[in-house]
This record gives sequence, structure tokens and C-alpha cells, in this order.
Amino acid sequence: MFEDFREYSIAEFFKKNKHMLGFSGKIKSLTTIVHELVTNSLDACEEAGILPDIRVEISQIDVDKYKVVISDNGPGIPKELLGKVFGKLLAGTKFHKYKQQRGQQGIGAAGVAMFAKLTTGLPLHIISAHEGKLISADITVDIQKNVPLITNLVESEADFHGTIVEGVFGEVKVDKSEYSVYEYVKRTAIANPHASFELVVNGEVYSFPRTSEKVPPPPKEVKPHPMGILPYELIEFAKRSNSKTLKRFFVETFERFSPAKVQELEKLVNVDLNKSPKELTWKEAEDIIKAIRSMSWMAPRKDVVYPIGEEQIRGSLEAILKPEIVITRTRSPKIYRGGIPYVVEVGIAYGGNFKGSIMRFANRVPLLFDASACAITKAVKSMDWKRYGIKDFDNEPVLVLVSLNSVFVPYISAGKTAISQEEEIVQEIKNALMEAARKIKIHINQKIRSRELAKKKSALLRYVDYLTTDISYLSGYSKEELQKKLEEIIKEKYSL
Ligand SMILES: Nc1ncnc2c1ncn2[C@@H]1O[C@H](COP(=O)(O)OP(=O)(O)OP(=O)(O)O)[C@@H](O)[C@H]1O
Ligand SMILES: [Mg+2]
Repeated sequence: MFEDFREYSIAEFFKKNKHMLGFSGKIKSLTTIVHELVTNSLDACEEAGILPDIRVEISQIDVDKYKVVISDNGPGIPKELLGKVFGKLLAGTKFHKYKQQRGQQGIGAAGVAMFAKLTTGLPLHIISAHEGKLISADITVDIQKNVPLITNLVESEADFHGTIVEGVFGEVKVDKSEYSVYEYVKRTAIANPHASFELVVNGEVYSFPRTSEKVPPPPKEVKPHPMGILPYELIEFAKRSNSKTLKRFFVETFERFSPAKVQELEKLVNVDLNKSPKELTWKEAEDIIKAIRSMSWMAPRKDVVYPIGEEQIRGSLEAILKPEIVITRTRSPKIYRGGIPYVVEVGIAYGGNFKGSIMRFANRVPLLFDASACAITKAVKSMDWKRYGIKDFDNEPVLVLVSLNSVFVPYISAGKTAISQEEEIVQEIKNALMEAARKIKIHINQKIRSRELAKKKSALLRYVDYLTTDISYLSGYSKEELQKKLEEIIKEKYSL
């Protein structure tokens, strides 16, 4: 049996399991391609402080075969990294950081290149304008080795900056369903008012101009909080550290680890904290973690997570749905898994030409797939909507938008399609929904009351004519005068 023992690369793993990256089904695969490249463009622009202009062009070239071109005005990619970005899975700038960004794994771009190769045999064609240098090259993944294959590299001068990714993909299709590129770009525009998008599908142009000129602040990196780490991670951090002593290492590596906290730790453990972090043993790491857990800590910094904002969500929902009312709520930052800050925000739109639906977002990225596995769906579905005047969620004109923003989003898979149902997160989403739903209930109650009053009012107004004719006859007062007065009394009494 061991004659068959082999080693294989991460690229081979994802070739076999491409569904884990979101490549399953023709429509979903095309949306995944656009999603990976657009999220990269937005991340890059934000990090460079640039208002993003993103263009997505899709053209059919055969049955289930499309050319996709995505261009941005970001900083471009330096020549020495270009190959790894599009030709190596698990390579990027975001994996080791706790930072609010759309990408976190270093798989997306090379995953797209691999999908092109698997379905058409073709590499991606990349044009990058970075710091005055223009590079164009064909890049794909050597799947067996998980290394880049670069051909046709040409260098010249650039008088602009940005990245253009061109690819031809098979086994894909574009349509207008709720899982399509249209919906994806539309929802991305809702959550990214500072970005402008142009989507061109087979020559038809859809524009989503920016509605805000403010670039969101560049995402801040947060160090790990001591309460969230495990002995293994502590040893990993220690091995990678350049600090001279364990004392310095704690202060430099973790949030809230002040010199005073180091002194406190020193009294609790039997470890020489003046030695090099590289000498830390497993037993010592365990003792340190135990001591850390028994100490009290300041909560992690929370000012590193930027929500979309209540006004912005309201504006977007009003513009798109034209509902009777929109209630938005951005909660204060919270912590999950002991150390990861996040912010939940919700918007509930009620009344209009739409039916019970949920819009999910994570770090301003729309989530269109795997709804039933998502923490957001779980929270929305577990709400007792009847208590808030919504008797039949699925069939009433209600739309719930939930956005989770965090320096690390716990996705269910490498395809980043849904948020895992961590209890703390589900509960926090419910809290936000309950706050907003209470206000929706007031609106619905008012609507019911005003409808009842209007019914009574119109019934009474019908008698005004008879009544004033008789009263005028009996009293001698002018009928017009009486009619006017009576109508005024009825209107005042039967209005909200
Ligand atoms: N359009 C772009 N402009 C500038 N840099 C880019 C662009 N696209 C990708 N990059 C760089 O390439 C890296 C790899 O991108 P990739 O999508 O593979 O991974 P990621 O975005 O880090 O994580 P994820 O797999 O979650 O998307 C990014 O981390 C970023 O540094
Ligand atoms: Mg990415």
C-alpha cells in the first residue's frame, strides 16, 4: 500500500477541491472570479488611500466560455511579486495580519488563474503599472509544484498606476439571477459608496458611480490580544520574534502587554523572562498561557474596525428599494474568541416592492452563496419577527441588511462565502436586529392605527353633508360654516 504514498502541493489540493474556493456551478464560478479580483482591487486602493475606479468587462466568446477583464486604479503590483500573486496559492500580504481587509488568505488571485488553466488551458494576462513601471506578462500556476509560470514578460514606462487582469474561462455563465455578477457588483456598490464601478456585459454598460468622495481610513493593524492565544501560537510568535528578551517580546508582540503586566506575569510563573524568546519551551508556554488567563486584561483595542455607517446604509437602501421606512443600527465594537474585535451593523427596510430577504456583507463584501450556513441567516431566522409586527417574514415587504466588519472574519471555507455560526457573533447580530426591529414595530403599529383612523374618518365625513343640512335648517347657521367646522373636528380627532 505504501508504494502509492505521494506528496502533493496545495495547488493540487485545490484543483481537486475547487468547489472549496467557490468554483462550482457556472454562474457561481463567474461571480467568484469577479469577487476575488474586485476584492483585491478594493483592498489595494484602500491601502494606498486611492478612491477606487473599478471596471469589470465580461464578454461571451463561446458556449459557457467568457473573457473577463478587471481593471483598477490601485497602486499596481511590483514586478518581483507579480508571479507569486497570480501563480502561487497561499501567497500574499494579508495572511499574517489582523487587519480589516477583504482578503485574508492569499489564495484568491492564484485560484482564479488556476481556474482559467483548468477550464481553458490559458494563463491570465496581467498588466501592472507600479511606481512608474509598466509590466505585462502571462501568468499561471504550475499546479504540481504550486509555483508561478511566467511567460511573455514585457517591461516599459508607465504614466499611470493600476492593475488589469484578463482571463478566458470555461464552465462559466452570466445571467441576472440573485447569484450573478450583476447582483454582486450592485451590492458591492451599496457597501462601498466611495468606489465607482462600471460593469460591461456583452457590450451592455451598467454604471454605479460613487456617492461619497471619502476614502475610508486605511485599515489599521491590530496585534493579537494575550487572551486569545494558545501555547502553540505563543511558541510560533516567539520563534519569529527579533526581541532580545521574553519581557520585550511580550510588550512588542501583544496588545495591552505593558511592562507592568510583564512584572505581574513574572510573579506568577517560574520562567526566566530575561532569556531569549527563541528558548521558550512548550511547558513554559503552557504555564505562561495559564497565568495570562488568570490575570485581568484591558479589552482589546476596538478602534481598528470601520463599519459602513448608519447614514450610508440608509442612503443606499432608500435609493435602491424606495421603501416606506429604513431603520439602521451600528453597534459598538465587540470582541469574539477572546481577542478579535468586530462591529455589527444592520439596516431594516420595510414597505415597498420587495419580499422577505436578507443581504449579507462581511468587510463590505456581499455574500451571495451558502446562505443557510451563515451566522447572519441564522440570526435573522431565529428572530421572533411576529413580536415586531412582521407575521410572515418571507412574504412581507421586509429586507434585512447585516454587515459584519472585523480584522478577521471567520468564514466557513476558503471560498469566503458565509460566516461561520460562532455563538457570540450570532447573538450580537440578533441584538442589533432586535434594536432595529423595535423601531420597525412602532412604524408598523402606527401604520395600522393610521389606516384604522382613516377608515373611521372617511366613514364620518360621509355624514357631514346630511348632518349640516339638518343643523343649518334647525339652527339657522350657514351650512358651509358648519360643514367646515365639523370637517375640521373630524380630521383633527381622527389623525395620528
Ligand atoms: N489588484 C491588485 N493590486 C495590488 N495588489 C494586489 C492586487 N491583487 C492582488 N494583490 C496582492 O496580491 C496578494 C494576493 O492576492 P490574493 O487574492 O491571492 O490573496 P489575498 O487577497 O491576500 O487573500 P484572499 O485569498 O483571502 O483573497 C494580495 O495580498 C495583495 O498583496
Ligand atoms: Mg484576495
